Amino acid sequence: MEFGRRWALVVLGLSCSVSCHDTTAPPAPIVYEPSWTYKCVPDEGCHRSAHPQPGANSSSLIFPSLDLCRTVCGRFGGLWPRPVTAALSTQTVRIHPNFLRFDLSNAPVETRDILVEMTHVATQNLIDECDGNVSVVVETPVVVYITVKTTNLNLTLDTLEQYRLDVQSKESNAVIHIVAETVYGARHALETFTQLVSSDKLDDGEYRCGLRLVAGAKIWDQPVYKYRGFLLDTSRNFIPMDDIKRMLDAMATVKMNVFHWHATDSHSFPLESKRVPQFTRYGAYSAYEIYSAEEIRELIHYARVRGIRVVIEIDSPAHAGNGWQWGQEFGYGDLAVCVNARQWRGLCIQPPCGQLNPANPTMYRVLRDLYKDIAEYLPKPALFHMGGDEVFLGCWNSSEQILTYMESRNYDTSVDGFIKLWSEFHEKALNMWDEELTALGQEEKQPVMLWSSELTQAHRIQKHLSKDRYIIEVWEPINSPLLVQLIRLGYKVVSVPKDIWYLDHGFWGQTKYSNWRRMYAHTLPRDPHMLGGEVAAWSEYVDSQGLDTRVWPRTAAVAERLWADPNSGAIAAESRLQRLRARLGSRGIRADVLSPQWCAQHDQHCV
Ligand SMILES: *[C@@H]1O[C@H](CO)[C@@H](O)[C@H](O)[C@H]1NC(C)=O
Ligand SMILES: *[C@@H]1O[C@H](CO)[C@@H](O)[C@H](O)[C@H]1NC(C)=O
Ligand SMILES: *[C@@H]1O[C@H](CO)[C@@H](O)[C@H](O)[C@H]1NC(C)=O
Ligand SMILES: *[C@@H]1O[C@H](CO)[C@@H](O)[C@H](O)[C@H]1NC(C)=O
Repeated sequence: MEFGRRWALVVLGLSCSVSCHDTTAPPAPIVYEPSWTYKCVPDEGCHRSAHPQPGANSSSLIFPSLDLCRTVCGRFGGLWPRPVTAALSTQTVRIHPNFLRFDLSNAPVETRDILVEMTHVATQNLIDECDGNVSVVVETPVVVYITVKTTNLNLTLDTLEQYRLDVQSKESNAVIHIVAETVYGARHALETFTQLVSSDKLDDGEYRCGLRLVAGAKIWDQPVYKYRGFLLDTSRNFIPMDDIKRMLDAMATVKMNVFHWHATDSHSFPLESKRVPQFTRYGAYSAYEIYSAEEIRELIHYARVRGIRVVIEIDSPAHAGNGWQWGQEFGYGDLAVCVNARQWRGLCIQPPCGQLNPANPTMYRVLRDLYKDIAEYLPKPALFHMGGDEVFLGCWNSSEQILTYMESRNYDTSVDGFIKLWSEFHEKALNMWDEELTALGQEEKQPVMLWSSELTQAHRIQKHLSKDRYIIEVWEPINSPLLVQLIRLGYKVVSVPKDIWYLDHGFWGQTKYSNWRRMYAHTLPRDPHMLGGEVAAWSEYVDSQGLDTRVWPRTAAVAERLWADPNSGAIAAESRLQRLRARLGSRGIRADVLSPQWCAQHDQHCV
């Protein structure tokens, strides 16, 4: 962080740096501003000097800027998330992006197109360290040799993300070696490489910005959890595409790999379906608040270049209302029931209500058309989220048509009868999804995600949901036994404990805000069935205007938990998180502040 308020106090007559002997020339003015240096103190972090030190030189462990100090200070320097092992030099060398070259000759031809895009992102990130203009030019050649061992471009739960990164530099050049199994591992290495670079702002009368690279580094790294997700709800409030992309930029910075797009809900339906244009025509907040098919495809590619798999969620059978309310007008009957009911209590969790109508065969036809579109959008192998949470039996119980249908199926109107109806919905939905993927040439059946619910309770789940097909996303609070119960039953799970990792908590009702330290402190069981976790940005009380500060840097805390699962706590991590926040800032993400600035300039003085 550069604290750039410049109190230009011109002190006349104190300088002898140029020409004291020359009595005829007027004394050279010195631009005297607070010019602190920062000292790297082992096991603590960076501390500001006691006195301003104009013109001070970098010497060992004394740095002209806080960013630069943090980039080299400590075992993991300014890296976030921390790698498994790292050995970093405290020396730095100047580099310039114009003299940076990527050598892909050790990467298979099939991987080169995407690698080129990945290197462009990395280069842009470096330039952004200097707000777009690296004005201190050095001609030192910097070559990044990238070795990728496989041609596999698929993003799956088994994608190999490990990498090795080696930096060696001399006066005359710098050589970087990256070795990874996949392009995604190589991308993570490029990300780490950019985090070994810091801006170095010079002010010798004229403001200039240069880049410094850690002179030597040996890093070996791989994630602890396979699924490191961020959920964004774009239904409660619409979030423009540019904001979503900015979230992906930040996710890539912290090596998160799943963008869980909670695209629709009962409130609005902004996702374009070519086959069923009514979804957005009746479901979007306005003609300008729609994600077009082209934008969706572009976003999915944008994510892939950043190592992120997009998982689209179409929540069902509950959380579906606006966007589904046109059935009668088109002669299709009710596609959903309870839609926008004024007396909503007992019919849904929050207004506006809406639940799909499982008694109407046309509903399934329309849903299949939507699945066809989603199946075409999603990157293959596809991971689709079918929602499945918060079904209100009272809503279905209020529909004559549904009750008649249940009678025809011999389901009684007890909880068990409705559970059968609900389970039947998921069975039909899964079959349709499988058929649509098969139609696209996907031979192997792909897993599907569902939220935990009444249906996924330990005593019920095995009767209704196959553990070979469903990944259960458990959102119960941390004191719930469900996560561990499901693991024991052999279900694959993703954890998003609502009392810790929900970003909307603290903004409504009795819910409690979790700061980054609390989010960081939470750990997950280590088990092969424990795929990972997710941070959830529900959008009832956030939109484009407050998004960045709501989400960052708290989400980064969870990203490190999921990538590295460190034993050490938040205090040891804070200086690196401060560096990350500055980095996000230079990349255009306005992450919230972590502490008073004085505390940021004096690591561990405020604990
Ligand atoms: C900085 O280094 C230069 C060249 O080595 C030296 O002349 C100058 O006195 C040093 N300045 C300070 C404040 O140590
Ligand atoms: C970059 O900075 C240099 C030095 O401050 C300045 O001369 C140049 O005009 C800047 N270039 C751009 C594109 O802003
Ligand atoms: C990548 O995914 C596609 C689509 O699912 C599949 O056909 C292909 O075999 C996969 N490639 C590898 C190397 O696993
Ligand atoms: C459905 O409504 C009937 C009649 O009001 C009631 O007896 C039954 O308990 C309800 N079922 C559920 C699961 O609430």
